[in-house]
Amino acid sequence: MNAPVVLQVAATSASPALVLRPWRMEDVAALVEVSRDPALRQWASSVVDNDADGARWVQAQQRGWAAGDRFGFAVLEAQPGSVREQLVGNVLLKEVTSGKPAAEVGYWTAAHARGRGVAPRALEALTSWAFDTFEADGLERLELLHQVDNLASCRVAQKSRYDFDSILPAAPPTFLRDGHLHIRRMSA
Ligand SMILES: CC(C)(COP(=O)(O)OP(=O)(O)OC[C@H]1O[C@@H](n2cnc3c(N)ncnc32)[C@H](O)[C@@H]1OP(=O)(O)O)[C@@H](O)C(=O)NCCC(=O)NCCS
Repeated sequence: MNAPVVLQVAATSASPALVLRPWRMEDVAALVEVSRDPALRQWASSVVDNDADGARWVQAQQRGWAAGDRFGFAVLEAQPGSVREQLVGNVLLKEVTSGKPAAEVGYWTAAHARGRGVAPRALEALTSWAFDTFEADGLERLELLHQVDNLASCRVAQKSRYDFDSILPAAPPTFLRDGHLHIRRMSA
């Protein structure tokens, strides 16, 4: 992939337009700020405590793009009266391997931007891009995993037409509780 991928999501009556683009080093300060949120640390296993962690995290996203197996997008929102966009979330396509029919998606929304559909709108854009881009490589379905008690994430899956598939057994120490596997197929 040569030019950076930029995905646009239209505004809604409740929410500004979104821009999705690969993470950049200039995002580190905002990433550190949003990573203070306990829910993000709990559910998205975020371990970004300072600028050095943030830089390592962004570099890991950049390595994923270079390797072609992990594609993390910063989700940005236009701010009224400002040319600068604000970081509101992350969506991620991972476990991409040529010839493999399944890959996985992930997401989080900054605490200050939750409850207005950022995650499902960004996930829809990521999903369309993933199927368009990797269909020729054999991609047929996208998997979304969350812990059973992450009700907001389950709701994002439902709203984004990732159908419930099965219960995943807990896998401590990373996943202390059972999980849900949701799947969206290319034809859905
Ligand atoms: C899950 C998350 C990404 C949702 O992002 P968002 O941009 O706020 O998404 P939405 O605006 O669509 O809101 C999520 C939905 O969950 C619902 N919700 C929020 N908290 C909830 C709760 N405690 N119980 C049940 N539903 C809840 C909201 O009401 C909304 O549903 P609705 O549109 O039917 O009202 C966000 O809460 C988040 O970042 N959480 C921490 C990280 C995380 O869990 N990532 C996913 C890991 S699998």
